[in-house]
Amino acid sequence: MTVRAAYPLDIISNAVGPACPQNWYLVASSMELAPGAILTRMLGDAEIILYRGQHSQRVTAFAAHCAHAGCHLGHGRVVGDDLRCALHHRIIRPDGNFGGSAPRTPSSSSQPAFPAVERFGGIFVFAGEHATFEFPMPEISAIGPVTVRSLPPRTFAVPWSTLISNGMDIDHLQAVHDRKLREPPTFRRIDEHQVRLSYCASVTGSHLSDHVMKWISDDEIRASISCIGGSMMLVESQVGRHRTFVLLSMCPSGTTGSTVRAVVGVPGASHRLGSKISARLAAWLFQAFLTKDVAILERMRWHEPTVEMTDGDALMVRLCDFFRGLAEFEPTHARPQLKAATHLLPVAARPTPISRAEAIR
Ligand code: FES
Ligand SMILES: [Fe+2]
Repeated sequence: MTVRAAYPLDIISNAVGPACPQNWYLVASSMELAPGAILTRMLGDAEIILYRGQHSQRVTAFAAHCAHAGCHLGHGRVVGDDLRCALHHRIIRPDGNFGGSAPRTPSSSSQPAFPAVERFGGIFVFAGEHATFEFPMPEISAIGPVTVRSLPPRTFAVPWSTLISNGMDIDHLQAVHDRKLREPPTFRRIDEHQVRLSYCASVTGSHLSDHVMKWISDDEIRASISCIGGSMMLVESQVGRHRTFVLLSMCPSGTTGSTVRAVVGVPGASHRLGSKISARLAAWLFQAFLTKDVAILERMRWHEPTVEMTDGDALMVRLCDFFRGLAEFEPTHARPQLKAATHLLPVAARPTPISRAEAIR
């Protein structure tokens, strides 16, 4: 038994790892963003806007405040594939460069843009200037088409690390989820961005969803839970002859905790009735599984175990080490740099003003 240093009694923050890791975040469902529409979302402390181009239908993600003078771009308008800011009508191209007939704008003032992709009916944005790793794809999506179903978003007043730790806590499987491990679980580091827990369990519960799960799985549920970039979890399961995945994104918000958005997928083309029914059933079973966590997470102050009493505690310690090694998303645009106050310089040192004729050239 390993004894670790106790936490101070006056724990103020129970977050482990960065407040908002550099990661892919599911910020909206594709259906929420029609061509020409603009949405606002939070990534940690940073506000972002998303819009869909009218020609290309592609999604662009920008820092929410205009690099020119700080107008909120949620007031803007989509013009073709560009965005027009509401305050001075400057045109911002999808790469963040200002264009159109705008006066010259230094390249350092281009609009901060974030990598964005659409996968499985959702819009994912990378919190960081460049994506430092590829978007994770579930195994079944490499085999053939998948049918997906979004789960309703849910906000919890806890950090993302609490939610991920709960998802990978093998000791609570029996206590909360009525699942009994059939063999010892494995926990591996896949690479610097990913760890994976794999286990095989049987059902011990007596809820309707437990009976359905027991019947479908023949009482053998194989699950692999990958924690990707810290705040994303990919659950891939083999339930009898059925394979499913659930991709969960825990999006930190500075004021509210974390918003969980998730999408469930099953193999099969989306126009097939059988695939639609399977996706609906998988979503219902997964929601029934998650519902058992909801009350437990309320007012929780989860922290790393101070004493390793079980294999689950040892696993949590390794998970926390992984969390602590993650890179933080530090949006430079969140606090705009003050430009040199040139009016305070001696006249000789002031830059030559650009004439109006030059400015509109
Ligand atoms: S503030 Fe956006 S164009 Fe001026
Ligand atoms: Fe749980």
